[in-house]
Amino acid sequence: MSDRDGGARARPGAATGVGLAIEAATEHVEVLVRDAAGGTLALEVEDVGHGHTRRLTPIVARALARANVAARDLEWVAADLGPGSFTGVRVGLATARGLAMAADARVLGASSLAALALTSAARRSLVVPLVPAGRRDVYAGFFRADSRGTITLLAAPCVGPAAEVLERVDEARAILGGAPVRFIGPGAARERDALERAHEGSAAHATREGGLSAEDLAAAALSTRGVAAGLPGNGEDPAPVYVRAAQAEERVRHRALAGEIVTLRAMRDDDLPAIAAIERQVFSDAWPESFFAGELAQPQVDARVAEQDGAIVGYSLAWLGEGTGHLGNLAVAPGHRRRGIARRMLLDLFERAQARGAGTLALEVRASNVAAQGLYRAHGFRLAGLRRGYYRDTGEDALVMERRPRDADMAPAPATHEGGRRPGP
Ligand SMILES: CC(C)(COP(=O)(O)OP(=O)(O)OC[C@H]1O[C@@H](n2cnc3c(N)ncnc32)[C@H](O)[C@@H]1OP(=O)(O)O)[C@@H](O)C(=O)NCCC(=O)NCCS
Repeated sequence: MSDRDGGARARPGAATGVGLAIEAATEHVEVLVRDAAGGTLALEVEDVGHGHTRRLTPIVARALARANVAARDLEWVAADLGPGSFTGVRVGLATARGLAMAADARVLGASSLAALALTSAARRSLVVPLVPAGRRDVYAGFFRADSRGTITLLAAPCVGPAAEVLERVDEARAILGGAPVRFIGPGAARERDALERAHEGSAAHATREGGLSAEDLAAAALSTRGVAAGLPGNGEDPAPVYVRAAQAEERVRHRALAGEIVTLRAMRDDDLPAIAAIERQVFSDAWPESFFAGELAQPQVDARVAEQDGAIVGYSLAWLGEGTGHLGNLAVAPGHRRRGIARRMLLDLFERAQARGAGTLALEVRASNVAAQGLYRAHGFRLAGLRRGYYRDTGEDALVMERRPRDADMAPAPATHEGGRRPGP
C-alpha cells in the first residue's frame, strides 16, 4: 500500500523567544516559563487529580507571575497533545490556544509519547514510552533508536493492559530484528513488575517516573528532532492525539450513523475524475487519473468504489494473485470518515480475495498514519516488515502489514507486488 497520507513534516524555523509550556496530559500538571535562551524562569507543579478545568488557569497565572512575564509577551505557547487524560489534553490545548491568541504567539504541540521518547538515551533499541490510561491500561508509543541515538517513530500508539502492550512489543521487535526494548515514562514505573518479567532490565531505568515533564514537552515541541519522532511540525495546527475515542462520543457517532446507505461496486472509467479529485485532496503524492485508467485494464486488479447518494465517497485498488494479494490504495473522502466505509470496503475485499485464492494480503502504510494502522489492525493485519525511508516526499518509513488466513498462519511471507514497492505512475 502506498499510504501517502500524513503530509510533509517540515518544521521551518522552530519558534524561539520567551514561551510557556503546559503539561496537563495526566493528573500531574506542570507549567514552565522559559526565556529566549532556553533558561527556566518559572516552573509550577501541582497534582490536580481530575481538576484540570478548575486548576490549570491559576497555575498558569502563578507561573507567569513568578517569571515576571506578561502573557502578551509570550512568543510561543506549547501544550501536550496526548494521549493522556481527555480533559487534561483538551483543557491544556484550549488554554494554550487562548493565551496564544491573546499574545499573537505561536501554538506548538508534542505528543506525550514522543516527548518521552526523546528523553531516552537508548541506542539500537525499541523505545516504548508508557503513559497511564485509567486504572488498568497504559498508552504505549513505539519508536526506534538507531546506533547514534536518533529517535524515529516506528508505529502508531496503542492503549490497553500491559499484557496487550507486550504482544505489540513482540511484533515491533520482530520487524527490528529482535532489538532490545526499553520502557520509559510514568506508565513503565507503574507496570514495572510485568514488564521486567517479560524483558529483564527493560524498565529498570524508566525516566519521568513521577509524572510527565513540562521541560520535556517544551524541548520536544521546539526540537527539530521532533520531525523524526512523528511530532506535528511547526506550521501544522496541533491537534489532540486521543488513541481511543471517549465513550460518549462513540455512542453519539454510532447513533448518527445508523441507517446510512453506502453501496460498493466495481470501479469504472467514468468514476476516475471523481476518484482523482479525492486522491489529490487526500495524498501528497496522488496517483494521476491515467495511472488508475492503466491499472483498471489489468486482469489481476481489483478496484472498487463506495458510493453514497450518487457520489463516490471511497475507493480501493488491490492486486489479487494466486495465494497472495497486495492492497495498493484505499481512501475515504475526508467528510465521510469514521462511518465504517473503509471497514466495509475491506470486508468486501477479503471475500473477493478469498474467492480468487489470494489468502494472504499485504500492504505498506506510513509509520505516522494512525487511522490506517488502526483500521488494518482492527481487521487482522499485523506488522510484518519495515522499509526504512520508503516515502520519498518525507523520507518516512513504511510498515509492511500482513493479514494471513487463520488456517495458513505458518505460510511463507508473500511476495508483495513489484517487490513490495508501489508501482507509482
Ligand atoms: C484510513 C481511512 C481509509 C479510514 O477510513 P474510514 O472510513 O474513516 O474508516 P472506518 O470508519 O471504516 O473505521 C473502521 C475502524 O478503523 C479504525 N480507525 C479508522 N480511523 C481511525 C482513526 N482516525 N484513528 C484510529 N483508528 C481509526 C477504527 O478501529 C475504526 O473503527 P471504529 O470507528 O469503530 O473505532 C481514512 O482515514 C483515509 O482515507 N485516510 C487517508 C488515506 C489513507 O491513509 N489511506 C490508507 C493508506 S495505507
